[in-house]
Amino acid sequence: MDNLKLDSLKPLIQYGALAGIGLFLVYKTMHKPKREDEIPIVGSSGFLSSYLDAFTYLLKAPEFIQRGYELYPNGIFRVAQLYHWEYIVCGPKLVKEVGNTPESVLSFYAGVDEMTQTKYTLGRSISEDPYHQLTVRSSLTRNLHTCFPDVRDEIVCAFDDVLQLQGSEWKPLPVLPTMMNIVSRVSNRLFVGLPLCRNTEYLDNNVQHTIDVVRSGMSISLFPEFMRPTIGPLISHKELSWARALKILGPILEERLAKEAELGSDWPGKPNDLISWLLEIAVGEQRTTEDLTLRILAINMAAIHTSSMAFTHALFDLTTHPEHFLPMREEAERVVREEGWTKAALNNMPKIDSFLRESQRLNPGGSLVMQRRVVSKDGFRFSDGTVLPHGAFMSIPSRAVHYDTSNYENAATFDGFRFERERVEHMAQHEPSEQDIFKRHMISVAPDHLPFGTGKHACPGRFFAATELKAMLAHLVIKYDPPLRKPTNKRYV
Ligand code: HEM
Repeated sequence: MDNLKLDSLKPLIQYGALAGIGLFLVYKTMHKPKREDEIPIVGSSGFLSSYLDAFTYLLKAPEFIQRGYELYPNGIFRVAQLYHWEYIVCGPKLVKEVGNTPESVLSFYAGVDEMTQTKYTLGRSISEDPYHQLTVRSSLTRNLHTCFPDVRDEIVCAFDDVLQLQGSEWKPLPVLPTMMNIVSRVSNRLFVGLPLCRNTEYLDNNVQHTIDVVRSGMSISLFPEFMRPTIGPLISHKELSWARALKILGPILEERLAKEAELGSDWPGKPNDLISWLLEIAVGEQRTTEDLTLRILAINMAAIHTSSMAFTHALFDLTTHPEHFLPMREEAERVVREEGWTKAALNNMPKIDSFLRESQRLNPGGSLVMQRRVVSKDGFRFSDGTVLPHGAFMSIPSRAVHYDTSNYENAATFDGFRFERERVEHMAQHEPSEQDIFKRHMISVAPDHLPFGTGKHACPGRFFAATELKAMLAHLVIKYDPPLRKPTNKRYV
């Protein structure tokens, strides 16, 4: 009887096994690791034509990237660079994977190195041990509340000194250089305090160093790897900026080191500034005036260009969309009247916050963000099965993400208060939770909002940047008048 039952079940078991094997094979085929040479190319794949594309890409990168993003919005494509393929990773799932993968697998520093040629432009020790970023992540951010009155004081003085306007006078000024002057001064009030933050020789050197790093980094990357050790030092102006900074910072740093040696690390009256924060964690060779100067230059470089660009774009957006001016003035005046000029008061200026966030959305630093290099020996495997080999370069198409209509309604239209509205609507519909508190704020990062990147390396300076830029915008709308006429409309597409 039992044998009879088994015999009748046999075909079922056989078909079941066959179906199982079939399903397994289909699954394996669908999830077959996609090797790097199977990843679609935007542009040509031929040997010579891909080189031609790499040159065209230098001029037309945004077009290549937009085309790829439209074809593979949730996948990976590659574009030819002069000496390697750049893998462009799209879609929230894969973007999260890039952001959350540790440095030992996908390296932020190796990615940045290729872009800025750190060894030659910022210094070898910066490239080998970027410990200084910890000061931004911890002490600097922690001290924002305490140091805010200084930041506010510097904003007022810097606008007065740099703009030098008399009464109701109007005068033309080049926006980016003017903003660089103001931002470098305000940032350095926090970094090195008075009187150095007003020393024009020191500030000009920081601004020039920032410009040099960007320019020379790009120029050095145009040469093949084997030529860079020879060409790099010739192109880079690092030695000059370093010597200039050392002349000014050297005596101050020596005095601080001497004070610590004599009185211990917590000496009475120790300034609460970047020099002290660096000395709290620097070890060995890092505690020399030479190395500390390189770190101060590097933090200036990270802070000045990015924040000045962001504020410049915000000003252009404000002149293009002046209808935002009076509501922001009303908000800033009311909050300052009720709470005074404090860091906490800035949290109650949602229109100003939203305006800056929207301006960053439409004007991200470039077409790509979150540059990474695969440093793990075994390469990196995405959840969709794509495997990138050891040494591959990848990045995220921030601009395309920000202009994607599936991420934002009327994505190509500047809508300064869109995030303020979203926050109000969200709060009206949900019980506010811990996570909601900072949702859609200027500092909040997400796979669909990438001006500061997202994940493990998301900009640690964004808390300072947001405080500084919001305080600057609030000051500007209160103190200065709106543009008299609407300029021709700025186009985002
Ligand atoms: C509007 C202003 C700013 C923008 C748009 C910006 C943007 C960024 C971006 C996109 C990254 C890379 C994120 C990634 O690849 O995942 C980054 C990293 C970084 N930023 Fe900013 N940044 C700004 C201001 C600042 C300021 C003011 C500071 C310093 C006070 C700063 C310090 C840094 C540092 C140290 C890193 C490296 C992070 C790491 O080593 O993990 N940034 N920033």
